[in-house]
Amino acid sequence: MPRKFPSLFAIACLLTAGLIIQNSNARAASSQAQDPATQDAEEHEESAMELQMKRVEDAMRLLRRSIRKPEARADSVGHVQECQEGFLLAKAMTPLLLANIPEAEQSAFKRDFRLAVIEAMEAFLDLERALLEERDDDARELYKKARALEDPAHERFTEDG
Ligand code: HEM
Repeated sequence: MPRKFPSLFAIACLLTAGLIIQNSNARAASSQAQDPATQDAEEHEESAMELQMKRVEDAMRLLRRSIRKPEARADSVGHVQECQEGFLLAKAMTPLLLANIPEAEQSAFKRDFRLAVIEAMEAFLDLERALLEERDDDARELYKKARALEDPAHERFTEDG
């Protein structure tokens, strides 16, 4: 009996150690499995500006359809308001690309970015005025004008060009 006790104790210790190792291996495996997902989320983390831009993009998509229908004018005004708000918030932000601009050119870059956002806001104000005055043809032309600002602005102020 006294000789059996140490061996039972040893078996219990081995079993416990085995369980601990197994458990930590399982945890390591599951954290390895999570790593790519975490990395992915980090890589795709949106900047505050991208969030506002996506807000503008979504509103413009809805606007593209509603602007064809005079009976949906109130909806169009709502989508235009959404675009204006997105740009208003983006105006106070700095593009990610700023980090790649030589220091001596940074203040001009920031000023030009702000001016380009002002131009976009003006386009959406003109568009809103046309909608409120029920000038639907003008509104459709002004929508195209606002849309056309996107590509040159992205070429100049985004990393992807
Ligand atoms: C006119 C309609 C516009 C739309 C629909 C639009 C949409 C977008 C979208 C969806 C993104 C996210 C990146 C992507 O997934 O492509 C983006 C990024 C960006 N846009 Fe626009 N954009 C517009 C106009 C502008 C204007 C006028 C400016 C600047 C004056 C601008 C500056 C930027 C910048 C700087 C980024 C990168 C975000 C960052 O640096 O953090 N965009 N835009």
